[in-house]
Amino acid sequence: MIGRLNHVGIATPDIDATARMYADLYGATVSRAKFALPEQGVSVAFIDLANSQLELIEPLGEASPVWGFLKKFPAGGQHHICFEVPDIIAARDAMRAKGATVLGTGEPRMGAHGVPVIFVHPKDSGGVLVELMAEPVGH
Ligand code: CO
Repeated sequence: MIGRLNHVGIATPDIDATARMYADLYGATVSRAKFALPEQGVSVAFIDLANSQLELIEPLGEASPVWGFLKKFPAGGQHHICFEVPDIIAARDAMRAKGATVLGTGEPRMGAHGVPVIFVHPKDSGGVLVELMAEPVGH
């Protein structure tokens, strides 16, 4: 059911500093600098890899879902991994039918990449929060 690994999400208290580190230390390309997604309570930036992306995530205030994560891991850390799926609704229904916990209402919402996403509880994925996203058009 799952397709390509689209990105690895990394929570950080300082996106600009973390992006600079990946650029300077690893020679990675920051393909989209920090921008705010107020409806999701986060700012994000993208770093391009040869075969995938890193999504840097910084909370926008204490109501942000990432705020609690950084309370636990103040220096930042791996927050989620994201797989592409051909059909987000079919993927959600299949996950539920197999007993997995889809977070929130389960209604897909617009992700940082501009396509609908859902999240699957870490207990169903070896302790890792999983984001499923609709395959971007053109893949
Ligand atoms: Co993501």
